[in-house]
Amino acid sequence: MNSILATAFVATLSLTAISTTVSAEETSANPTLDTALSAQGNAVKGKRLFMRCRACHNLTKSTRHRVGPNLDDLFGKKVAASEGFRYSKAMQEADFIWGEAELDQWLAKPKAFLPGNKMVFAGFKKQKDRNDIIAYLREATITE
Ligand code: HEC
Repeated sequence: MNSILATAFVATLSLTAISTTVSAEETSANPTLDTALSAQGNAVKGKRLFMRCRACHNLTKSTRHRVGPNLDDLFGKKVAASEGFRYSKAMQEADFIWGEAELDQWLAKPKAFLPGNKMVFAGFKKQKDRNDIIAYLREATITE
């Protein structure tokens, strides 16, 4: 990609990011149904990005927790509700349902979204990376 194209691409992405943030907030009353970010993501790329999470997270319920909680049935699930996992006080005291808008903020900068949590992950700076991983999580966290 030449640099002019690249700049246009980045500009489009930032514009998209702004508009999706608004629509995500509008639909956050029903986090399970809000697919504003995954609709723009690439699940195949997201699967590759999940390599950075895999050491700490399983996506299914059938296995034991790793360093972090299992992420099965994540969308529409209450925060800190994966059975048998010892969450930090910060996570236990949080009160919201996981949807794409919440994941977007969490994965951008976990420390800023929930100060005091114990997930050691700096965050994905790029909106595109977050859309991709959210698209992958949409597909991969569904429990049969
Ligand atoms: C070094 C280990 C580690 C890595 C890497 C990591 N996590 Fe976590 N994650 C944790 C821990 C530990 C918690 C629980 C935090 C707490 O209790 O404060 C957590 C919590 C979460 C939660 C909240 C789950 C719930 O039940 O409410 C989500 C969602 C999540 N992580 C997603 C991810 C994703 C996606 C990635 C990759 C981009 C990732 N994590 C990378 C360790 C990790």
